[in-house]
Amino acid sequence: MNSADVQTTLTYVREPTSELAIYNYRPGPDDPDLSGQYEEPAYLEYPVEIKDIRGHEQRFSLEDAGLQVISHVSAIDDYYDDKKVRGIYMPEMEALVKRVTGALRVHAFDYNVRCQAYSEQKVHMARMPVRFVHNDYTDTSGPQRVRDLMGDESEALLKTRFAVINVWKPIVGPVQRTPLAVCDARSLEPGDLIDTSLLYRDRIGQIQLASHRPGHRWYYLSNMRADEALLLKCFDSARDGRARFTAHTAFDFVDTPADASDRQSIEVRTLAFF
Ligand code: OGA
Ligand code: FE
Repeated sequence: MNSADVQTTLTYVREPTSELAIYNYRPGPDDPDLSGQYEEPAYLEYPVEIKDIRGHEQRFSLEDAGLQVISHVSAIDDYYDDKKVRGIYMPEMEALVKRVTGALRVHAFDYNVRCQAYSEQKVHMARMPVRFVHNDYTDTSGPQRVRDLMGDESEALLKTRFAVINVWKPIVGPVQRTPLAVCDARSLEPGDLIDTSLLYRDRIGQIQLASHRPGHRWYYLSNMRADEALLLKCFDSARDGRARFTAHTAFDFVDTPADASDRQSIEVRTLAFF
């Protein structure tokens, strides 16, 4: 065991149920996050070991593990400026995903900045870390995203291989609180991931929740810096044995120092066409 390996708990959905739906927004101040038919509690915490991949980064690639560590220094000077993110950072992510994957074309379509304190203060459009095991797309919502975003070209684009790839990066490093844990795609079995509706104000998306199995192999990158990025494969249309979906979640160290600053991160979602 590496000294930065972590024993903690992760939150998985308790019971596979197709009736569960998750709100991406608060319908009302006292409303629950969940909708549909399910038994309480919907989620359960399970003890897991999360291994540090620092020093072993080369063993993980998007095509086998579904995750990959890459260096990236951005020209952006303010991640909380939407114009700069869209004008500077997202094009950088398109070039990065293109370079790493060899895709012919990459379209960055969405981003989130996350910081617990900023989210609680309702500043900077920041969102909370996501503390349950999930993957962002399904066999239905992956292609649907292409249709929503690529207009007239979508049917032609859907005829060849494409993937949805997230690039996750600390805004400030090193990350001392609430890092991101990623499950090696090779340790997921069919049936571990459960398609679940995600209710937006204006549309219904679909993500995958995970049910627990002791064989899941979890990893994170200790003390992750702002010049490092984590690529996550959230969908791949190819069914040839390569990683297609990658479960991930924010987690807390059991012994986080009280003065550790909140994690600030940005994730950019991209469509990569091959
Ligand atoms: C993601 C994600 C959660 C977090 O990037 O897809 O789920 O807490 N992030 O950063
Ligand atoms: Fe996610």
